[in-house]
Amino acid sequence: MAVQISPSILAADFARLADEAAAVPNADWLHVDVMDYHFVPNLTLGLPVVEALRKATATPLDCHLMIADPDRWAPQYAEAGAGSVTIHAEAAKAPIRTLREIRLLGARAGLALNPATAVEPYEALFPEIDMVLLMTVEPGFGGQKFLDGVLPKIRRARELVQRHGGRIWVQVDGGVDAETIGRCAEAGADVFVAGSAVYGASDPVAAVDGLRAAATRAST
Ligand code: DX5
Ligand code: ZN
Repeated sequence: MAVQISPSILAADFARLADEAAAVPNADWLHVDVMDYHFVPNLTLGLPVVEALRKATATPLDCHLMIADPDRWAPQYAEAGAGSVTIHAEAAKAPIRTLREIRLLGARAGLALNPATAVEPYEALFPEIDMVLLMTVEPGFGGQKFLDGVLPKIRRARELVQRHGGRIWVQVDGGVDAETIGRCAEAGADVFVAGSAVYGASDPVAAVDGLRAAATRAST
């Protein structure tokens, strides 16, 4: 289970996104938080910015759609060249169709669960997904405190993933930093989103390396 780090550009300077992408050449992904003022009480960016960012960096884009109607909009993010497109279980009305469309368009398909959403009811969707994203804060804002209460769900998700062959990545998102990442890795996460812990650091490259080392230590 290789550790992957996905810095969230939500904590970057939106006026300098190309530079901010270039500031973390050691990242595996760039996490792009799409918010629509409906699914979450915040508004960030959409398709035009993803298209522009796609041209500005070689780092694959990990698009996390916190939007009310992912069935309608998610395929366009795959079309725009995102390497991974994650929809929220709480928002999707036809998740199987949408996840299949994302994959057909060449992206990895992810399913995100809010902190209070259990993973077990979604086991039937595992054949349709490449990643399960467990929110470790309520979605909508960066810089929030990590919710320890999600740790048992990370363990359960890892067990279910192993039962399904171990192919699906387990991503955690929210409050992940040098201190909390070890607990997430120990519980079974292997893809780590970090916004403030990377872009709030004086040396983002060192921050990514530090997070990777801490997660690797805890998961081996
Ligand atoms: C929150 C977003 C996160 C956010 C994480 O709704 O999904 O990706 O950027 O930010 P930090 O790492 O600062 O908690
Ligand atoms: Zn996110």
